[in-house]
Amino acid sequence: MTSEPSTAPSTEPRVVVVTGAASGIGHATAALFRDQGATVYGLDIQPTVPEGVQYVECNVGDRASVDAAIEVCAAHGRIDVLANVAGVVQFGRFDQISDAEWDRVHAVDLKGPFMLIQAALPHLRACTGNIVNVSSVAGRIPQPYAVAYAAAKGGLTQLTKSLALELSPEGIRVNAVCPGTVDTPIVSHVATIMPSDLDPRVSDRLLMMLPGPAIAPAEIGEAIVYLASPAARMITGEILAFDGGMG
Ligand SMILES: NC(=O)c1ccc[n+]([C@@H]2O[C@H](COP(=O)([O-])OP(=O)(O)OC[C@H]3O[C@@H](n4cnc5c(N)ncnc54)[C@H](O)[C@@H]3O)[C@@H](O)[C@H]2O)c1
Repeated sequence: MTSEPSTAPSTEPRVVVVTGAASGIGHATAALFRDQGATVYGLDIQPTVPEGVQYVECNVGDRASVDAAIEVCAAHGRIDVLANVAGVVQFGRFDQISDAEWDRVHAVDLKGPFMLIQAALPHLRACTGNIVNVSSVAGRIPQPYAVAYAAAKGGLTQLTKSLALELSPEGIRVNAVCPGTVDTPIVSHVATIMPSDLDPRVSDRLLMMLPGPAIAPAEIGEAIVYLASPAARMITGEILAFDGGMG
């Protein structure tokens, strides 16, 4: 009689990769996974990841940089969780978006997660790991004056749902969170680049105008940690919005 392979969960600490871990939502998320005892790699272009998180320099918009970073993170032979948090924002009138700006936003916000998932997939398969992407409310509902950003985040939302279906036979889950306004440096940056003469007929659709106080980065981090946990084992292809009901 042949013995069945063990289905007992690994007792090793989970290996978690968080992009954008030097600031805002990524920083909070990396710290939460660390506090759970995971081995956490923080990928970013800046080194200011939380204490106890291993910094790996990575430009998520560059294939060679992504491949090199994932190779470092795969030292344990597996990746349990990939959290694609790194992102850049764009605001301004549509007719003023340059090719370079369109490409910059799409390289980081859409092609970055695509390349990270491709690089991490063999290591996610090694432990039936899972993926959480940080999209945006702008990836679910129209966002005037941020068309390049909304197009990239809309692409990330559909990437999440489509890939979730493709990987579901393997048990690899893919989910996304769609934050509204979160209290991070990205928001103060938006305030400096927002056009001053917005058309009042559409300006009330701006995400900056969500009801209530801004969301704390750790509130989004808690949701990422939950979606990545065994407690969410039946959840895949889910797009979890933090929009105060606007969507
Ligand atoms: N703050 C919000 O209101 C809000 C709302 C919706 C969605 N989001 C999304 O949340 C994510 C995190 O944003 P945040 O608010 O924490 O912003 P943040 O600016 O505080 O953090 C973004 C992090 O991404 C890193 N980063 C930028 N370009 C990179 C690159 N090419 N390679 C590697 N790292 C790079 C930055 O260095 C920074 O550490 C982004 O994807 C953003 O689009 C934020």
